Amino acid sequence: MKILALETSCDETSASVIEGNNVLSNIISSQIVHSQFGGVVPELASRAHLQLVVPVVNQALQTAQITLSQIDGFAVTNGPGLVGALLVGLNFIKGLALSCNKPFIGINHMEGHIYGNLLTQKNIQFPVLFLIVSGGHTMLVVMRGHLDYEIIGTTRDDAVGEAFDKTAKILGLGYPGGPIIDSLAEKGDEKFIRFPKAFYKDTHFDFSFSGLKTAVLTYKNKHEPDFISENMASICASFRFAAIDVLVAKTIRAAKKYNAKAVAVAGGVAANVLVRRMLAEQSQKNGLDYYQPKFEFCSDNAAMIGRTAQEYFARNKASGQGLNAFPSLKLVSAN
Ligand code: KG4
Ligand code: ZN
Repeated sequence: MKILALETSCDETSASVIEGNNVLSNIISSQIVHSQFGGVVPELASRAHLQLVVPVVNQALQTAQITLSQIDGFAVTNGPGLVGALLVGLNFIKGLALSCNKPFIGINHMEGHIYGNLLTQKNIQFPVLFLIVSGGHTMLVVMRGHLDYEIIGTTRDDAVGEAFDKTAKILGLGYPGGPIIDSLAEKGDEKFIRFPKAFYKDTHFDFSFSGLKTAVLTYKNKHEPDFISENMASICASFRFAAIDVLVAKTIRAAKKYNAKAVAVAGGVAANVLVRRMLAEQSQKNGLDYYQPKFEFCSDNAAMIGRTAQEYFARNKASGQGLNAFPSLKLVSAN
């Protein structure tokens, strides 16, 4: 089944044509308009999606070398995300489905991240303990089979990607902060400062990152600007280690508790060099398989939405034209 998928939940306009695990195209246009504001401005995101959606979809079809009439079904993110941004993609796909007389399905963005990982895995061993880490979410999910999820932990305040972005802003490093901190951290000493790791030893699987961000702010305010810039790489490395160590420790502990066969990471922060390195090491040490997404399927992209849609279409599920966009859509199992 050839699926045309669209993702417009935040500041990436992305369209993909996918058939099975075969990604025929995955076009991602990142909106640069937000960088001057140090974060995504929702109304500007909606307007940029309106301008980008037609060229991005056309490019996805051209790259895949197919026409609209060869598409068997459509898929679109309908939450969670920015409501105005979601509505642009949802209404566009509804229109295409109606005019082509083909089914469409609304997909949960977090479920999309999960399938952005599974898309490139050969032999999936369930249960998989999924760590989903993005700019808006931090979740631990037990996945017992396709479309079968149990959320066992979330963040109580900031998401981990958000903590990277806010910390980068505090340190004057630019936006989005995750990749900038990550590459600086590679050159620094992670033992330079011991930043707090909230809930590290607690038996529950929730997270908290707002205290870590505040600890960096307090540290910065207590030192001279010259000292901060001279030691920037080590400050970044210490921050990154505090954030990632707690994620990895809780993921491995959860994998053991829930008798998982494999551990997996998904979402924008899955591109982080340290989370990949530590999860790979710790999984091996504990006899668990480890799945990580290719870099192109970590941050927001439409291929992951199309791949998720295949699981639903294969079970004869589709959405109706009355489907709405939900900014806080929850991840739930099918059935
Ligand atoms: O999944 P995503 O593209 O969008 C959301 O659904 O939120 O994730 C974006 C987040 C941003 O907070 C960004 O700073 C973070 O992922 N990110 C990273 C890295 N690359 C992207 N965080 C840490 N290290 C990275 N290498
Ligand atoms: Zn995302």
